[in-house]
Amino acid sequence: MIKMTAFSCRPDERQFFEEFAKMYQIELVMTDQPPSLENVDLLKGAQAACVITTPVSGALLEQWSRMGVRLVSTRTVGFEHIDCKRATERGIAVTNATYTPNTVAEYTVMTILMAIRKMKTILIRGLGQDYSLAGIRGRELKNMTVGVVGTGRIGETVAKILSGFGCRIVAYDVFQKESVRQIASYQELDKIWEMCDLITFHTPATPETFHMVNEETLAKMKDGVVLINMARGSMFDTPALIDALERGKVGAAALDVVENEGKIYYKDFKECPVPHHEMAILGAMPNVLMTPHTAFFTDEAVSDMVECAMKSCKRLESGEDDPLRVN
Ligand code: COI
Repeated sequence: MIKMTAFSCRPDERQFFEEFAKMYQIELVMTDQPPSLENVDLLKGAQAACVITTPVSGALLEQWSRMGVRLVSTRTVGFEHIDCKRATERGIAVTNATYTPNTVAEYTVMTILMAIRKMKTILIRGLGQDYSLAGIRGRELKNMTVGVVGTGRIGETVAKILSGFGCRIVAYDVFQKESVRQIASYQELDKIWEMCDLITFHTPATPETFHMVNEETLAKMKDGVVLINMARGSMFDTPALIDALERGKVGAAALDVVENEGKIYYKDFKECPVPHHEMAILGAMPNVLMTPHTAFFTDEAVSDMVECAMKSCKRLESGEDDPLRVN
């Protein structure tokens, strides 16, 4: 029987791990520890390692490879935390997860509506029994031009949901899809910056998308533009965003991700200061809705994430090609 060690297992994932390990007949070791050079022993006898967001460095892969690991499966769509080049050199397959795009797409649309209806201010005021109307007048999505940057599975689903609101949708992607053309018109990025009242980002973290929102691109956007980032923090130059929010160039933002979030999410800082100055500034702005990278977090997605890892493990055992392989 093939053996997999699953790192960084959260309590809410354990039931899925147990069920799918039984279903796919995988010997499973679960640990709440993230992978590190100190705990390589947890992989003794295992051919597969399952990880989530924590970095998997070249040094770690060297060690794992010496122990006989042939597969690293991440329970995430993004795989930028894994040194894929080194994995390939060591003959280790890297696979990712594909979970239902509705989870992030629905969350995106929720935050779009919250941002344009000033929901953060309304809720905060309500806690203090302040039911006044001043400053909380919103806008109707129907009358806005919305840009969808990245029309992969999530971006396309966002565009489809948005099409029900009657807004004008423009899209950008290097790979254009006919199904998206039915509801949106593809435009060059400069046109997106120029035309849109609201822009939502759904691209992976790559060298090409790094800081695609920066001082220069922000200057090309409409005054008061609303920016939505449910994808990766690295796509926004955070100081440039803060500056644009302070000047009113950006009217509102909804951010489920932020640069250097790794040291913060998913930990509890109730009793101590949060070691992230930019987050503290953004979080204090009434027009910035910040959530802790939770757009993915539904019953369906967590189940899919675990099942994808198990399926990849099974394919390793049978020698089948794996459609989830990324290296
Ligand atoms: C991904 O699947 O790539 C995500 O962003 C969700 C992850 C942080 C759990």
